[in-house]
Amino acid sequence: MNGNGSKGRFVFPRGANLLRPVLGISLAAVPAYLVLLVWLGGSPKTFAVGYQPEQPVPYSHALHAGELGINCRYCHTSVETAAKAAIPPTQTCMNCHAKIRAGSEKLIPIRESFATGMPVAWVKVHDLPQYVYFNHSAHVTRGVGCVECHGRVDKMEVVKQVETLSMSWCLDCHRDPDRHLRPPEAVTSMDWVAPEDPVKYGRRLREARNINPSTDCYTCHR
Ligand code: HEC
Ligand code: HEC
Ligand code: HEC
Ligand code: HEC
Ligand code: HEC
Repeated sequence: MNGNGSKGRFVFPRGANLLRPVLGISLAAVPAYLVLLVWLGGSPKTFAVGYQPEQPVPYSHALHAGELGINCRYCHTSVETAAKAAIPPTQTCMNCHAKIRAGSEKLIPIRESFATGMPVAWVKVHDLPQYVYFNHSAHVTRGVGCVECHGRVDKMEVVKQVETLSMSWCLDCHRDPDRHLRPPEAVTSMDWVAPEDPVKYGRRLREARNINPSTDCYTCHR
């Protein structure tokens, strides 16, 4: 839960339990679901933009990913191979913090976690509803950079949600991805800029690599 109040997320007054039948009906009746698509896709909504929960350890991306320049993949190891971008286990922190700042008070929960084997209770920041399917590898390997969806994480002391993660936000890019594409080698770069007009450059990448994001309901609701 993101404390934002899940109520506002649903266009159907009685909540998520209605979603299954509604999806079922709309899939059966194509015109009805096209209406729904226009209706949902066309209504700009903001959900949890700015959501920034406090974490159990004052871990800073601005320090580690920004100043120290540690690559995102060092910690989020599965981001190119799986649906989920892994949150690193305590061992990853201890690779350095067994020696660096080994006595720091701020790292007490890390040392406790390491000693007991209990994972750190990191608070989830981005959280799609259960009925939405999202996949990191499908985006990252096709050249959608982290910064497109998560913003300048390398400048965040505490991670914050910067996009709505709403259906219309997903669809806006799926319908017209050109300006959001880059070479897959550059996906973790936070300050990459296209060598020419980003729309033209992206269009060339899309055509060369046959990138064609789907807008079928089943892509994201399965
Ligand atoms: C590219 C991904 C994507 C596609 C394609 C997609 N959806 Fe969604 N849909 C989402 C996301 C993300 C949400 C959750 C937004 C939120 O938090 O309210 C959502 C929410 C919904 C909801 C709940 C609405 C609400 O406001 O709570 C319905 C109903 C729905 N989608 C129906 C459809 C139908 C019908 C289609 C096909 C015409 C479709 N979706 C295609 C991503 C998608
Ligand atoms: C040294 C390890 C490390 C590196 C490097 C790192 N992260 Fe993280 N990341 C974490 C940890 C630990 C968390 C969970 C705590 C938090 O949210 O701050 C996290 C959380 C996140 C979240 C929020 C996840 C959620 O709960 O929704 C995003 C987004 C993220 N990282 C993106 C990035 C990006 C982009 C980079 C590269 C620019 C990066 N991270 C580099 C360790 C790392
Ligand atoms: C590649 C090495 C490396 C990794 C991996 C790493 N850190 Fe760090 N961390 C550092 C360095 C270097 C500093 C800065 C030390 C200094 O300021 O002297 C630091 C500082 C910190 C501090 C501030 C400590 C203080 O006393 O001010 C915290 C908290 C922290 N790291 C948490 C984490 C967590 C949590 C992880 C795992 C998700 C992690 N670090 C992974 C190198 C690393
Ligand atoms: C197309 C948009 C998009 C891109 C690109 C993207 N993310 Fe995410 N990320 C999301 C969404 C949406 C969620 C929430 C997923 C959920 O709740 O199921 C998320 C969640 C996360 C999480 C929390 C763990 C998880 O998988 O739920 C981490 C960590 C993360 N992203 C890191 C990254 C890193 C690192 C990159 C770049 C290598 C990246 N993301 C690229 C949209 C994106
Ligand atoms: C910034 C652009 C962008 C955003 C935002 C975005 N996507 Fe995508 N998505 C893409 C691209 C590009 C692809 C790859 C299409 C291809 O491989 O042809 C893709 C592919 C996917 C796939 C894989 C489809 C398959 O056939 O396996 C899923 C699932 C998906 N997106 C869901 C989502 C959801 C859910 C959201 C919103 C929470 C979202 N996307 C937001 C650009 C985006």
